[in-house]
Amino acid sequence: MKLLFIGDIVGKPGREIVTALVPQIRAERGIDFVIANGENAAAGAGITGSICKTLLEAGVDVITLGDHVWDQKGFEHEIATFDRVCRPANLPVSNPGRDHVIVEKNGFRLLVCTVLGRSFMGAKADCPFLGADALLKKLAGQFDGALVEIHAEATSEKQALGWHLDGRVTAVLGTHTHVATADASLLRQQTAFLCDVGMTGPHESVLGREIEPVVGRFLDGRPRRFEVATGDVRLSAALVEFTPTGRAERIEWLSLKQG
Ligand SMILES: [Fe+2]
Ligand SMILES: [Fe+2]
Repeated sequence: MKLLFIGDIVGKPGREIVTALVPQIRAERGIDFVIANGENAAAGAGITGSICKTLLEAGVDVITLGDHVWDQKGFEHEIATFDRVCRPANLPVSNPGRDHVIVEKNGFRLLVCTVLGRSFMGAKADCPFLGADALLKKLAGQFDGALVEIHAEATSEKQALGWHLDGRVTAVLGTHTHVATADASLLRQQTAFLCDVGMTGPHESVLGREIEPVVGRFLDGRPRRFEVATGDVRLSAALVEFTPTGRAERIEWLSLKQG
């Protein structure tokens, strides 16, 4: 079986390449599950209910989020209306929204969840290691394989979580930095791992934003509006092939352009 995990969708360029390419990739590569991180889908910050709907209709099975989960006003009231959208699992329990999603295809139940890292991250979050452990324990018997997304800044924290969950989940895949890493691999006990999948959006940019204001900010320290950039739009994703028992057999990093 195959899952495709799409990294942070940034703004309209990111949404457009997802809606354009997902049906095609699905058909050409025989993908069973498509999961996408949508934390930057609305103008680069957060997501809205209507964007969730658009992405789900385009063939995304599950939308995950990150530290920008609540950036769009009102989404805290909308999130509960979606059964295939989940917020980070290790946010304080009082946060609205689901902490995981289980989707079923061809008799296989895939658990999807995200944990936030705590090194160099601003969000208030519980321990991602213990959070993932608790969720896997609570849902034992209800899933055949799991994709745990580690939304974090530090590669060390991401690698450590990969090893911590090795053999217990199908894949541990990283997001948040918007820059892909070249370490796609199978860990000792057949868990697929990648520190960061990279972003889906304009790559002629600084992390998806217009170059000049960001450079200007670094030069003089004055605040500016960072608009979403437009050039060199690419979809970044990890494709994981796994057995019917949920063990990863292969991981490949993809960077795709339209047309
Ligand atoms: Fe992001
Ligand atoms: Fe993030």
